[in-house]
Amino acid sequence: MAENDFLPIKNWDHIEFYVGNAKQAAYYYCTTLGFRPVAYAGLETGLRDRASYVVAQGDIRFVFTSGLAPEHRACQSVLAHGDGVTDVALQVGDAAAAYQAALERGARSAMEPTVSEDRHGRVKRAAIHTYGETVHSFIEREDYAGPFLPGYAAVECPPALEGKDAGLRGIDHVVGNVELGKMDEWVHFYERVMGFQQIIHFSDEAISTEYSALMSKVMEGGQGKIKFPINEPAQGKKKSQIEEYLDYYGMPGVQHIALHTNDILTTVSKLQAQGVEFISAIPSYYAELEGRVGTIDEPIADLAKLGVLVDRDEDGYLLQIFSKNVQDRPTVFFEVIERKGARGFGEGNFKALFEAIEREQALRGNL
Ligand code: FE2
Repeated sequence: MAENDFLPIKNWDHIEFYVGNAKQAAYYYCTTLGFRPVAYAGLETGLRDRASYVVAQGDIRFVFTSGLAPEHRACQSVLAHGDGVTDVALQVGDAAAAYQAALERGARSAMEPTVSEDRHGRVKRAAIHTYGETVHSFIEREDYAGPFLPGYAAVECPPALEGKDAGLRGIDHVVGNVELGKMDEWVHFYERVMGFQQIIHFSDEAISTEYSALMSKVMEGGQGKIKFPINEPAQGKKKSQIEEYLDYYGMPGVQHIALHTNDILTTVSKLQAQGVEFISAIPSYYAELEGRVGTIDEPIADLAKLGVLVDRDEDGYLLQIFSKNVQDRPTVFFEVIERKGARGFGEGNFKALFEAIEREQALRGNL
């Protein structure tokens, strides 16, 4: 893989969601998906216009923000898109240099380099626009030891939220949906502006069912740590899930976030017990499974009971499962993934998965 270090990314930093009710959204993510409260900023910490709740699990950090007055951009965003991802924030060693490098290569500024400080140290951050109204913040936090960012107060985990951790350990990939004909534009954006490489291309023949199709290319950066698949709808007999997303989100945006675990059977059992709803495969999927993927460590009966899917590529295999949408609009959902060598995205499951998604779409009257 070619090295291109004009915008070195160290890791994921956090993902921020604009939501209608951040207090309740954070509680949902804690009680069902197993996050724990970490930090808070709002009226009590001196903010006047918004409330933000930070939750974490393993290395994953999510922020839920609501505006406190209609003119706040979080309120505007929720009005237009419903709850959704506003910022896929990346950790860098030098936020100003990352911002400058991106702008020189054609990125649009969302926030100029800004330093904030409190008694825990200092953070420098900047941000650029990507697809839709989504941004990438660049966060430089080596000199900071606080709970999240300057201005946030640490939050103790209340007893009612103890013991919910489901073993989710990190972000594997974040998927964007863009409009018909726009995938390559965003592929080139990540290549040109951020120095990412395209690692996979799924054609509409590879990702099609009887009714609908989509195309996807996967961009990778941060020495392989950061993976951004980009989907666009393709022509099919009926409406694709990407078009349904675009109709309800109103523009391109983040479709799903894949979170990895080292033990998917335990993780998914716990998530289901805590109320997370997953898309289920048809029973015949498991009858054909061993013939398709060969011998695996996990008992197929256990996978079938939970609805976990399996795929194999030349490097190994992976196990994955997809949640139902986590808000009323059919937009954002989650994937839980365990990689046993495989570096792909479950291509062998696309048909079964999309047929399952189409059954859900049909129930919503959107197929
Ligand atoms: Fe995925």
